[in-house]
Amino acid sequence: MTNSLSAVEAKYEAQKLAFAPIYFQCMVALRKLGILKYISSKRNGTNIYAISKDLNLTEYGVRVLLEAADVSGVVEYLDTDTVKLTKVGYFILKDRLTDVNINYVDDVCYDGVKSLTESIKSGKPEGLKVFGNWKTVYEGLADLPDQVKKSWFEFDHFYSDDAFPYALKIVNESNPQYIFDVGGNTGKWAFACCDYDENVKVKILDLPGQLNVAKKNAEEKNLTDRIDFHQIDLLDDFQKIPKGADTFWMSQFLDCFSKEEILSILKNVHQASDENTNVYIMEPFYDNQEYKAAEYCLTGTSLYFTTIANGNSKMYSIKVMYDLVKEAGFEVVEEFPLVGNSYHTILRCRQIKN
Ligand SMILES: C[S@@+](CC[C@H](N)C(=O)[O-])C[C@H]1O[C@@H](n2cnc3c(N)ncnc32)[C@H](O)[C@@H]1O
Repeated sequence: MTNSLSAVEAKYEAQKLAFAPIYFQCMVALRKLGILKYISSKRNGTNIYAISKDLNLTEYGVRVLLEAADVSGVVEYLDTDTVKLTKVGYFILKDRLTDVNINYVDDVCYDGVKSLTESIKSGKPEGLKVFGNWKTVYEGLADLPDQVKKSWFEFDHFYSDDAFPYALKIVNESNPQYIFDVGGNTGKWAFACCDYDENVKVKILDLPGQLNVAKKNAEEKNLTDRIDFHQIDLLDDFQKIPKGADTFWMSQFLDCFSKEEILSILKNVHQASDENTNVYIMEPFYDNQEYKAAEYCLTGTSLYFTTIANGNSKMYSIKVMYDLVKEAGFEVVEEFPLVGNSYHTILRCRQIKN
């Protein structure tokens, strides 16, 4: 878009970026104070004095927020004192994707992303220090403050949840008996697999914090006879993935690592598999999205990896993943693009035959 803009338009775009954090916090305040909800409940618009009185806020407070909401296209003024929600305002208030993204940016990223410059220089997630002294967010996930944890998990699950029903059908076409869910987190995929097929068994591989939560969840669901657990740090090359799986599943997992680390993990999977093993990789690749909004969210998420998660990972293009798969000794034998209209593509991989 950028080169077709006039200088005046381009300058305006630049100012939007300059003030972006302030306008972002304005949206957060409008949501938290109930102002957008109040306006949306009045079909023909509402008066600023009524908002101020009914929500017990000063007229100054309501006015200053709504003036910013007006220039950012969230509300429109019908006259000097009356406002109405726009289409953008509707999405800020009611759209689940926007809701999940706003909470994630506000609770998980906002304070730490101030350290982005330092993170780029050091290659470390300097912003993570606002929460604790861990090497990666995954080490500390179970100990994050409750609100931060809630927003992190809602963000993580929102993206994968929609894809899971379709992914289950795809993976079950090869009739798996024993699935290793690498980076299985709190067990959502493992439980879905057990629900889908009463004979399948699953092993969840993850760091101790997440594995403990998964175990507790499995106990509550009476699934410990079908799901077992393997504690592993896949950044440690000496920790080998055990053999025994006919299927490997890695969902939203490889994007948590640098290219070199992905290669090492895929080689680790390779040593644990044979020529009959199916290796499924499910990832939201930024370059094969249907909507511009999806590409925008994924590219922004990469910067969260830089400054909060681990300092060296990102969302990848599909070509990069194909190359890494090949270098690790696998080939992509099937590609399932954007499963169920989600953001994810599934790659089914097998060992390259010699
Ligand atoms: C973004 S979550 C994805 C969770 C889940 N697979 C999904 O689709 O929603 C990444 C998972 O990888 C795990 N993980 C990150 N670093 C790891 C490591 N070094 N070794 C093992 N697991 C790791 C995290 O603990 C987390 O559960």
